[in-house]
Amino acid sequence: MVKVNENYLKLQGSYLFSTIAKKVNAYAASNPDKKIIRLGIGDVTLPLAPVVTDALQKAVEEMGDQKTFRGYAPDLGYDFLRNAIVTNDYRARGCEIEADEIFVSDGAKSDSGNIQEIFALDNRIAVCDPVYPVYVDTNVMAGRTGVFDAATGKWSDVIYMPCTAENGFVPELPASVPDLIYLCFPNNPTGSAITKDRLQEWVDYANQNGSVIIYDAAYEAYISEENVPHSIYECEGARTCAIELHSFSKNAGFTGVRLGYTVVPKDLIRGGVALNGLWARRHGTKYNGAPYIVQRAGEAVYSPEGKKQLADQVAYYMKNAAYIREGLSDAGYTVYGGVNAPYIWLKAPNGMSSWEFFDYLLEKANIVGTPGSGFGPSGETYFRLTAFGQYENTVEAIERIKKL
Ligand code: MLT
Repeated sequence: MVKVNENYLKLQGSYLFSTIAKKVNAYAASNPDKKIIRLGIGDVTLPLAPVVTDALQKAVEEMGDQKTFRGYAPDLGYDFLRNAIVTNDYRARGCEIEADEIFVSDGAKSDSGNIQEIFALDNRIAVCDPVYPVYVDTNVMAGRTGVFDAATGKWSDVIYMPCTAENGFVPELPASVPDLIYLCFPNNPTGSAITKDRLQEWVDYANQNGSVIIYDAAYEAYISEENVPHSIYECEGARTCAIELHSFSKNAGFTGVRLGYTVVPKDLIRGGVALNGLWARRHGTKYNGAPYIVQRAGEAVYSPEGKKQLADQVAYYMKNAAYIREGLSDAGYTVYGGVNAPYIWLKAPNGMSSWEFFDYLLEKANIVGTPGSGFGPSGETYFRLTAFGQYENTVEAIERIKKL
Protein backbone atom coordinates (compact mmCIF):
# COMPACT_ATOMS: atom_id res chain seq x y z
CA MET A 1 0.00 0.00 0.00
CA VAL A 2 1.45 3.34 -1.00
CA LYS A 3 2.11 5.84 1.77
CA VAL A 4 1.64 9.57 1.24
CA ASN A 5 4.15 12.19 2.30
CA GLU A 6 2.59 12.94 5.68
CA ASN A 7 4.52 16.18 5.94
CA TYR A 8 1.89 17.63 3.62
CA LEU A 9 -0.76 16.87 6.23
CA LYS A 10 1.01 19.20 8.62
CA LEU A 11 0.39 22.17 6.33
CA GLN A 12 -2.46 24.58 6.76
CA GLY A 13 -5.44 23.67 4.57
CA SER A 14 -4.49 25.96 1.71
CA TYR A 15 -1.87 28.49 0.70
CA LEU A 16 -2.51 31.97 2.17
CA PHE A 17 -3.43 33.63 -1.10
CA SER A 18 -5.72 30.76 -2.09
CA THR A 19 -7.57 31.11 1.22
CA ILE A 20 -8.03 34.82 0.60
CA ALA A 21 -9.16 34.26 -3.00
CA LYS A 22 -11.79 31.76 -1.82
CA LYS A 23 -13.16 34.17 0.78
CA VAL A 24 -13.24 37.08 -1.65
CA ASN A 25 -14.84 35.05 -4.43
CA ALA A 26 -17.56 33.88 -2.04
CA TYR A 27 -18.19 37.48 -0.96
CA ALA A 28 -18.25 38.67 -4.58
CA ALA A 29 -20.70 35.93 -5.58
CA SER A 30 -23.18 36.98 -2.91
CA ASN A 31 -22.65 40.71 -3.53
CA PRO A 32 -22.58 41.00 -7.33
CA ASP A 33 -23.40 44.74 -7.26
CA LYS A 34 -20.31 45.67 -5.24
CA LYS A 35 -17.09 46.91 -6.87
CA ILE A 36 -14.36 45.07 -5.04
CA ILE A 37 -10.87 46.61 -5.13
CA ARG A 38 -8.16 43.98 -4.78
CA LEU A 39 -5.00 45.13 -3.03
CA GLY A 40 -4.25 41.69 -1.59
CA ILE A 41 -1.86 39.49 -3.53
CA GLY A 42 1.13 41.34 -4.96
CA ASP A 43 0.13 40.82 -8.56
CA VAL A 44 0.91 43.49 -11.14
CA THR A 45 -1.84 45.22 -13.11
CA LEU A 46 -0.01 47.20 -15.81
CA PRO A 47 0.25 45.45 -19.18
CA LEU A 48 3.62 44.20 -20.38
CA ALA A 49 5.88 47.00 -21.60
CA PRO A 50 6.11 47.43 -25.42
CA VAL A 51 9.75 46.39 -25.42
CA VAL A 52 8.71 43.08 -23.85
CA THR A 53 5.79 42.36 -26.18
CA ASP A 54 8.01 43.23 -29.18
CA ALA A 55 10.65 40.76 -28.01
CA LEU A 56 8.00 38.09 -27.41
CA GLN A 57 6.51 38.58 -30.88
CA LYS A 58 9.91 38.48 -32.55
CA ALA A 59 10.81 35.29 -30.71
CA VAL A 60 7.47 33.70 -31.64
CA GLU A 61 8.24 34.45 -35.30
CA GLU A 62 11.62 32.77 -34.90
CA MET A 63 10.02 29.71 -33.37
CA GLY A 64 7.62 29.49 -36.32
CA ASP A 65 10.42 29.46 -38.88
CA GLN A 66 12.34 26.28 -39.69
CA LYS A 67 15.63 28.20 -39.89
CA THR A 68 15.37 29.77 -36.45
CA PHE A 69 13.22 27.25 -34.58
CA ARG A 70 14.65 26.06 -31.22
CA GLY A 71 13.71 23.04 -29.16
CA TYR A 72 14.72 22.49 -25.54
CA ALA A 73 16.38 25.52 -24.00
CA PRO A 74 19.71 24.98 -22.22
CA ASP A 75 18.50 23.85 -18.80
CA LEU A 76 20.49 26.50 -16.92
CA GLY A 77 19.50 29.35 -19.25
CA TYR A 78 20.53 30.85 -22.60
CA ASP A 79 23.88 32.64 -22.58
CA PHE A 80 22.30 35.82 -24.01
CA LEU A 81 20.15 36.17 -20.89
CA ARG A 82 22.75 35.02 -18.36
CA ASN A 83 25.22 37.52 -19.81
CA ALA A 84 22.67 40.35 -19.75
CA ILE A 85 21.92 39.58 -16.09
CA VAL A 86 25.59 39.54 -15.13
CA THR A 87 26.34 42.80 -16.95
CA ASN A 88 23.35 44.75 -15.67
CA ASP A 89 22.42 43.32 -12.30
CA TYR A 90 25.95 42.60 -11.05
CA ARG A 91 28.94 44.11 -12.85
CA ALA A 92 27.15 47.47 -13.12
CA ARG A 93 26.94 47.39 -9.32
CA GLY A 94 30.51 46.30 -8.80
CA CYS A 95 29.56 42.70 -7.89
CA GLU A 96 31.71 39.83 -9.10
CA ILE A 97 29.28 37.29 -10.52
CA GLU A 98 29.93 35.09 -13.57
CA ALA A 99 27.39 33.87 -16.13
CA ASP A 100 27.82 30.24 -15.02
CA GLU A 101 26.72 31.24 -11.53
CA ILE A 102 23.29 32.32 -12.88
CA PHE A 103 20.52 29.72 -13.10
CA VAL A 104 17.51 30.88 -15.11
CA SER A 105 14.14 29.55 -13.97
CA ASP A 106 10.41 30.14 -14.13
CA GLY A 107 10.47 32.49 -11.15
CA ALA A 108 11.60 33.16 -7.62
CA LYS A 109 8.65 31.37 -6.04
CA SER A 110 9.74 28.00 -7.47
CA ASP A 111 13.39 28.61 -6.66
CA SER A 112 12.68 29.76 -3.11
CA GLY A 113 10.70 26.57 -2.58
CA ASN A 114 13.12 24.23 -4.35
CA ILE A 115 16.45 25.51 -3.05
CA GLN A 116 16.07 23.68 0.28
CA GLU A 117 16.36 20.36 -1.60
CA ILE A 118 20.15 20.66 -1.85
CA PHE A 119 20.48 20.85 1.94
CA ALA A 120 20.30 17.97 4.42
CA LEU A 121 17.06 17.47 6.32
CA ASP A 122 18.64 18.03 9.70
CA ASN A 123 19.66 21.60 8.87
CA ARG A 124 17.97 24.17 11.04
CA ILE A 125 16.28 27.06 9.22
CA ALA A 126 15.73 30.62 10.38
CA VAL A 127 13.03 32.82 8.93
CA CYS A 128 11.81 36.32 9.57
CA ASP A 129 8.47 36.55 11.32
CA PRO A 130 6.34 37.68 9.46
CA VAL A 131 7.56 35.86 6.37
CA TYR A 132 6.61 34.97 2.79
CA PRO A 133 4.85 31.63 3.48
CA VAL A 134 6.64 29.66 0.74
CA TYR A 135 9.93 29.46 2.69
CA VAL A 136 8.34 27.71 5.67
CA ASP A 137 5.74 25.64 3.80
CA THR A 138 8.34 24.08 1.50
CA ASN A 139 10.49 23.16 4.47
CA VAL A 140 7.41 21.62 6.13
CA MET A 141 6.80 19.58 2.96
CA ALA A 142 10.39 18.33 3.17
CA GLY A 143 9.96 17.49 6.87
CA ARG A 144 12.36 20.04 8.27
CA THR A 145 10.28 21.82 10.87
CA GLY A 146 9.53 19.64 13.90
CA VAL A 147 6.22 20.02 15.71
CA PHE A 148 3.67 22.80 15.20
CA ASP A 149 2.41 24.67 18.25
CA ALA A 150 -1.03 26.07 17.42
CA ALA A 151 -0.92 28.40 20.45
CA THR A 152 2.14 30.26 19.18
CA GLY A 153 1.78 29.48 15.48
CA LYS A 154 5.40 28.24 15.43
CA TRP A 155 7.31 25.12 14.40
CA SER A 156 9.62 23.77 17.10
CA ASP A 157 12.67 23.33 14.85
CA VAL A 158 12.41 26.70 13.11
CA ILE A 159 14.16 29.78 14.42
CA TYR A 160 11.74 32.69 14.07
CA MET A 161 13.34 36.11 13.92
CA PRO A 162 10.72 38.64 14.98
CA CYS A 163 10.48 41.70 12.76
CA THR A 164 8.64 44.36 14.68
CA ALA A 165 8.12 48.10 14.70
CA GLU A 166 10.73 48.24 17.49
CA ASN A 167 13.51 46.75 15.34
CA GLY A 168 12.39 48.52 12.17
CA PHE A 169 11.22 45.15 10.77
CA VAL A 170 14.83 44.03 10.37
CA PRO A 171 15.67 40.94 12.46
CA GLU A 172 18.44 40.66 15.05
CA LEU A 173 21.18 38.07 14.54
CA PRO A 174 19.88 34.90 16.25
CA ALA A 175 21.70 33.77 19.40
CA SER A 176 21.14 30.13 18.46
CA VAL A 177 22.91 29.71 15.13
CA PRO A 178 20.80 28.47 12.19
CA ASP A 179 22.20 26.59 9.20
CA LEU A 180 19.97 28.13 6.56
CA ILE A 181 18.84 31.74 6.89
CA TYR A 182 16.06 33.12 4.69
CA LEU A 183 16.17 36.88 4.23
CA CYS A 184 14.02 38.94 1.87
CA PHE A 185 14.85 42.62 1.33
CA PRO A 186 13.14 44.86 0.40
CA ASN A 187 10.82 42.82 2.50
CA ASN A 188 7.64 41.04 1.72
CA PRO A 189 5.34 41.56 3.61
CA THR A 190 6.49 44.51 5.77
CA GLY A 191 7.92 46.67 2.98
CA SER A 192 11.02 47.35 5.10
CA ALA A 193 14.54 47.65 3.69
CA ILE A 194 17.94 46.71 5.10
CA THR A 195 20.98 48.97 4.93
CA LYS A 196 24.23 47.72 3.48
CA ASP A 197 25.92 47.88 6.91
CA ARG A 198 23.22 45.73 8.52
CA LEU A 199 23.32 43.23 5.66
CA GLN A 200 27.12 43.07 6.00
CA GLU A 201 26.59 41.96 9.63
CA TRP A 202 24.49 39.05 8.35
CA VAL A 203 27.12 38.10 5.79
CA ASP A 204 29.86 38.17 8.45
CA TYR A 205 27.69 36.12 10.82
CA ALA A 206 26.96 33.50 8.15
CA ASN A 207 30.63 33.22 7.18
CA GLN A 208 31.74 32.92 10.80
CA ASN A 209 29.19 30.19 11.54
CA GLY A 210 29.16 28.25 8.27
CA SER A 211 25.51 29.16 7.64
CA VAL A 212 24.05 29.86 4.20
CA ILE A 213 21.83 32.87 3.52
CA ILE A 214 19.03 32.47 0.96
CA TYR A 215 18.57 36.09 -0.06
CA ASP A 216 15.33 36.90 -1.87
CA ALA A 217 15.87 40.12 -3.84
CA ALA A 218 12.58 39.99 -5.78
CA TYR A 219 11.72 43.59 -4.90
CA GLU A 220 15.11 45.28 -5.46
CA ALA A 221 13.78 47.40 -8.35
CA TYR A 222 11.71 49.36 -5.81
CA ILE A 223 14.68 50.61 -3.78
CA SER A 224 14.68 54.40 -3.70
CA GLU A 225 17.08 55.17 -0.86
CA GLU A 226 20.88 55.32 -0.76
CA ASN A 227 22.81 52.70 1.20
CA VAL A 228 20.14 50.07 0.58
CA PRO A 229 21.83 47.22 -1.33
CA HIS A 230 20.23 45.86 -4.50
CA SER A 231 22.13 42.61 -4.13
CA ILE A 232 23.70 40.78 -1.21
CA TYR A 233 26.85 40.49 -3.31
CA GLU A 234 27.42 44.19 -2.70
CA CYS A 235 28.58 43.00 0.74
CA GLU A 236 32.12 41.75 1.18
CA GLY A 237 32.33 38.00 1.60
CA ALA A 238 28.82 37.22 0.32
CA ARG A 239 30.20 34.93 -2.39
CA THR A 240 31.15 32.42 0.28
CA CYS A 241 27.84 32.37 2.15
CA ALA A 242 24.89 33.55 0.04
CA ILE A 243 22.50 32.37 -2.63
CA GLU A 244 20.39 35.11 -4.23
CA LEU A 245 16.94 34.81 -5.81
CA HIS A 246 15.57 37.19 -8.43
CA SER A 247 12.27 37.57 -10.16
CA PHE A 248 11.12 39.35 -13.32
CA SER A 249 7.59 39.47 -11.90
CA LYS A 250 7.76 42.67 -9.94
CA ASN A 251 10.26 44.75 -11.94
CA ALA A 252 8.94 43.78 -15.39
CA GLY A 253 5.38 42.55 -14.78
CA PHE A 254 6.13 38.89 -15.61
CA THR A 255 3.76 37.39 -13.00
CA GLY A 256 1.86 35.69 -15.81
CA VAL A 257 4.88 35.22 -18.09
CA ARG A 258 7.16 33.49 -15.55
CA LEU A 259 10.88 34.14 -15.40
CA GLY A 260 13.42 34.40 -12.61
CA TYR A 261 16.94 33.40 -11.73
CA THR A 262 19.04 32.19 -8.85
CA VAL A 263 22.70 32.98 -8.23
CA VAL A 264 24.88 30.31 -6.64
CA PRO A 265 28.50 31.51 -6.52
CA LYS A 266 31.20 28.91 -7.15
CA ASP A 267 32.96 30.01 -3.94
CA LEU A 268 30.01 28.81 -1.87
CA ILE A 269 31.27 25.53 -0.45
CA ARG A 270 29.94 23.57 2.50
CA GLY A 271 31.24 20.22 3.71
CA GLY A 272 33.77 20.34 0.88
CA VAL A 273 30.96 20.44 -1.72
CA ALA A 274 30.35 23.33 -4.15
CA LEU A 275 26.67 24.27 -3.98
CA ASN A 276 26.84 25.63 -7.54
CA GLY A 277 27.36 22.09 -8.80
CA LEU A 278 24.58 20.68 -6.63
CA TRP A 279 22.07 23.26 -7.81
CA ALA A 280 23.16 22.74 -11.43
CA ARG A 281 22.55 19.01 -10.98
CA ARG A 282 19.15 19.57 -9.40
CA HIS A 283 18.11 22.17 -11.98
CA GLY A 284 19.31 20.10 -14.94
CA THR A 285 17.52 17.01 -13.70
CA LYS A 286 14.17 18.51 -12.79
CA TYR A 287 13.84 21.44 -15.17
CA ASN A 288 14.03 21.75 -18.94
CA GLY A 289 14.76 25.45 -19.08
CA ALA A 290 12.61 28.56 -19.31
CA PRO A 291 10.99 28.99 -22.75
CA TYR A 292 13.11 30.68 -25.43
CA ILE A 293 10.48 33.34 -26.10
CA VAL A 294 10.32 34.23 -22.40
CA GLN A 295 14.10 34.43 -22.08
CA ARG A 296 14.20 36.78 -25.08
CA ALA A 297 11.59 38.92 -23.30
CA GLY A 298 13.82 38.85 -20.23
CA GLU A 299 16.78 40.00 -22.29
CA ALA A 300 14.71 42.95 -23.59
CA VAL A 301 14.20 44.12 -20.01
CA TYR A 302 17.91 45.05 -19.97
CA SER A 303 17.91 47.03 -23.23
CA PRO A 304 18.14 50.83 -22.84
CA GLU A 305 14.51 51.20 -23.93
CA GLY A 306 13.47 48.34 -21.64
CA LYS A 307 15.14 49.94 -18.65
CA LYS A 308 13.30 53.19 -19.32
CA GLN A 309 9.88 51.62 -19.83
CA LEU A 310 10.20 49.48 -16.74
CA ALA A 311 11.47 52.33 -14.59
CA ASP A 312 8.23 54.09 -15.57
CA GLN A 313 6.21 51.07 -14.42
CA VAL A 314 8.02 50.94 -11.10
CA ALA A 315 7.43 54.70 -10.68
CA TYR A 316 3.71 54.17 -11.37
CA TYR A 317 3.44 51.59 -8.60
CA MET A 318 5.50 53.68 -6.21
CA LYS A 319 3.14 56.59 -6.81
CA ASN A 320 0.41 54.25 -5.56
CA ALA A 321 2.58 53.33 -2.58
CA ALA A 322 3.04 57.00 -1.67
CA TYR A 323 -0.69 57.62 -2.04
CA ILE A 324 -1.54 54.71 0.26
CA ARG A 325 1.07 55.69 2.83
CA GLU A 326 0.06 59.32 2.97
CA GLY A 327 -3.68 58.67 2.77
CA LEU A 328 -3.64 56.17 5.59
CA SER A 329 -1.36 58.33 7.76
CA ASP A 330 -3.74 61.25 7.27
CA ALA A 331 -6.60 58.98 8.30
CA GLY A 332 -4.76 58.20 11.55
CA TYR A 333 -3.32 54.79 10.68
CA THR A 334 0.17 53.71 11.67
CA VAL A 335 1.90 52.73 8.43
CA TYR A 336 5.27 51.29 7.44
CA GLY A 337 6.94 50.35 4.18
CA GLY A 338 6.08 51.73 0.77
CA VAL A 339 9.37 53.65 0.36
CA ASN A 340 11.71 50.95 -0.94
CA ALA A 341 9.02 48.35 -1.58
CA PRO A 342 5.57 48.09 -3.17
CA TYR A 343 3.98 46.94 0.10
CA ILE A 344 2.43 49.02 2.86
CA TRP A 345 2.27 47.41 6.28
CA LEU A 346 -0.26 48.97 8.59
CA LYS A 347 -1.48 48.42 12.10
CA ALA A 348 -5.09 47.29 12.27
CA PRO A 349 -7.10 49.93 14.15
CA ASN A 350 -8.91 49.62 17.48
CA GLY A 351 -7.17 46.43 18.56
CA MET A 352 -8.66 44.40 15.71
CA SER A 353 -6.96 41.16 14.74
CA SER A 354 -5.59 40.88 11.22
CA TRP A 355 -8.48 38.71 10.03
CA GLU A 356 -11.08 40.90 11.77
CA PHE A 357 -9.70 43.87 9.87
CA PHE A 358 -9.70 41.83 6.66
CA ASP A 359 -13.43 41.07 7.07
CA TYR A 360 -14.16 44.65 8.12
CA LEU A 361 -12.46 46.15 5.06
CA LEU A 362 -14.03 43.63 2.73
CA GLU A 363 -17.55 44.12 4.05
CA LYS A 364 -17.53 47.84 4.84
CA ALA A 365 -15.33 49.15 2.02
CA ASN A 366 -15.14 46.24 -0.44
CA ILE A 367 -11.36 46.32 -0.32
CA VAL A 368 -9.16 43.24 -0.23
CA GLY A 369 -5.85 43.24 1.60
CA THR A 370 -3.74 40.55 3.22
CA PRO A 371 -3.99 39.80 6.95
CA GLY A 372 -0.58 40.11 8.60
CA SER A 373 -1.09 36.98 10.70
CA GLY A 374 -1.09 34.96 7.47
CA PHE A 375 2.63 35.69 7.28
CA GLY A 376 3.42 34.55 10.82
CA PRO A 377 2.58 35.20 14.47
CA SER A 378 4.38 38.57 14.60
CA GLY A 379 2.14 39.72 11.76
CA GLU A 380 -0.93 39.53 14.01
CA THR A 381 -2.76 42.89 14.23
CA TYR A 382 -0.99 44.04 11.05
CA PHE A 383 -2.33 44.21 7.52
CA ARG A 384 -0.65 44.43 4.10
CA LEU A 385 -1.81 46.51 1.15
CA THR A 386 -0.11 46.22 -2.22
CA ALA A 387 0.79 49.15 -4.44
CA PHE A 388 0.40 46.97 -7.57
CA GLY A 389 -3.20 48.07 -8.22
CA GLN A 390 -4.34 50.53 -10.85
CA TYR A 391 -3.86 54.12 -9.70
CA GLU A 392 -7.56 55.07 -9.95
CA ASN A 393 -8.55 52.02 -7.91
CA THR A 394 -5.86 52.72 -5.36
CA VAL A 395 -7.10 56.28 -4.92
CA GLU A 396 -10.69 55.06 -4.63
CA ALA A 397 -9.69 52.44 -2.06
CA ILE A 398 -7.94 54.96 0.14
CA GLU A 399 -10.87 57.38 -0.11
CA ARG A 400 -13.20 54.56 0.97
CA ILE A 401 -10.97 53.73 3.94
CA LYS A 402 -10.81 57.40 4.94
CA LYS A 403 -14.61 57.54 5.02
CA LEU A 404 -14.95 54.53 7.31
C1 MLT B 1 2.68 38.25 -2.52
O1 MLT B 1 1.59 38.79 -2.63
O2 MLT B 1 3.23 38.08 -1.42
C2 MLT B 1 3.38 37.84 -3.75
O3 MLT B 1 2.67 38.17 -4.89
C3 MLT B 1 3.57 36.41 -3.74
C4 MLT B 1 4.50 35.96 -4.79
O4 MLT B 1 5.26 36.73 -5.37
O5 MLT B 1 4.49 34.75 -5.04
